[in-house]
Amino acid sequence: MKKEKGFFITLEGGEGTGKSTQVAALAAFLEDKGLDVVVTREPGGTPEGEAIRNLFTQRTDDMEWSPMAECLLMFAARSMHIEKTIKPAMNAGKVVICDRFTDSTRAYQGYGHGLDLSDIEIIRDISIQSFAPDLTFILDMPVEIGLARAKGRLADDGTGEDRFENMALDFHNRMRDGFLDIASKHRERCVVVNAGRDIDEISKELRDVAAERLGIA
Ligand code: TMP
Repeated sequence: MKKEKGFFITLEGGEGTGKSTQVAALAAFLEDKGLDVVVTREPGGTPEGEAIRNLFTQRTDDMEWSPMAECLLMFAARSMHIEKTIKPAMNAGKVVICDRFTDSTRAYQGYGHGLDLSDIEIIRDISIQSFAPDLTFILDMPVEIGLARAKGRLADDGTGEDRFENMALDFHNRMRDGFLDIASKHRERCVVVNAGRDIDEISKELRDVAAERLGIA
């Protein structure tokens, strides 16, 4: 029996896999079905978390966060996010949809940047214990396509973000393999979605799975 009421859905995947579009489409569908939906993201979801997001995404040339420091920042933001936003919404019976969560730390800081996966689990255990999504969609596509999309999107957005500049292709491939490995270890929770298809086809798959898991199909 679940401790919280409500339902917690996360979307995961590499850069440019279309998570944000799919988060919005899934939220609209569930709201249409009469459910109360909260959309949020990581890092972020609280003022404190958004401040950490700014630290993380708008780095200057003289900054180089270690994978451990990144991991600690992510879990600092995440613990605030769970206590201030996610749990209260779930306790009120709402469906929470979050763009990235702990699997991103595993994939980016762990599989991508080489931080020991068991160290990540120790930090997870201390900061958020066993709190985990009820359902996770992992949007999967070849990294070359995702990166080309993401670069195009950030090119003129004026935020000064240059986080793709130094990220090598093999880093992204390790991360992609990492997400697939996570999915194979958490088969109950994770659904791998082919994100290289038409947007509407992907949305339909997410709607169908979510509706079934929520018992509203
Ligand atoms: P995005 O959600 O807009 O893709 O941007 C967030 C960035 O932060 C993205 O590059 C992935 C990265 N990230 C991590 O490295 N570790 C994490 O735990 C999370 C949540 C995000």
